[in-house]
Amino acid sequence: APPQDLAGRHVVVSAGGTREPLDPVRYLGNRSSGRQGHALAQAARRRGARVTLVAANVGLPALEGVETVAVETTEQLRDGVRSAAKDADAVVMAAAVADYRPEASATSKIKKSGDDPLVLRLVQNPDILAELASERLRPGQVIVGFAAETGDDGASVLDHGRAKALRKGADLMVVNAVGEGRGFGTTDNEVTILDRDAEIVATASGSKDTVADAVWDAVLAHL
Ligand code: C5P
Repeated sequence: APPQDLAGRHVVVSAGGTREPLDPVRYLGNRSSGRQGHALAQAARRRGARVTLVAANVGLPALEGVETVAVETTEQLRDGVRSAAKDADAVVMAAAVADYRPEASATSKIKKSGDDPLVLRLVQNPDILAELASERLRPGQVIVGFAAETGDDGASVLDHGRAKALRKGADLMVVNAVGEGRGFGTTDNEVTILDRDAEIVATASGSKDTVADAVWDAVLAHL
């Protein structure tokens, strides 16, 4: 049996990707599969934790022994995570959250308007991770974020991850490269775990299960 080093702990994991409705049949979304979040929930369960999984549009089989709350939008994800976080020892935000949502969702299907371009007005969503990190709904709880990044001309994946670690105020930031067949939708992952000062505390590569255990090891060091 795996070590029961999370026994007596309540942990919250968000997984998947939020969808923001444009009208009754369309949404703005992203390519997150929910696999890393599922692996995190399953690993925590295996290690003895009580687990609440807030799952945004995850098409994976339900996890035995994990309390799962299914959500669609960022607002619903925020409500689900915050209510579970009130008595949580740790919150891991593995979900890909939409940064923007349509200002309004049309009540009926948007029609094509001749040859004119369609202009969408988007408003910013709240940053759930930054809120959790600054509020600490339960004192002393460990807050973990994920930074799925691509490199670009100016900065590497790790540079972007470091900046995010410093900006969000979470205790741990799990940085992984996405795009070109990496990260989203794949079964393997390669991550660097940073602390709130953007110092490297661990690296892990391999299956999403391996990465999940590395994240919980890092969380345990903070509990
Ligand atoms: O800024 P970015 O979206 O890349 O940050 C990623 C991290 O922040 C993830 O842990 C994600 O779950 C979280 N996040 C959030 N609320 C948002 C945007 C991202 O909690 N509105």
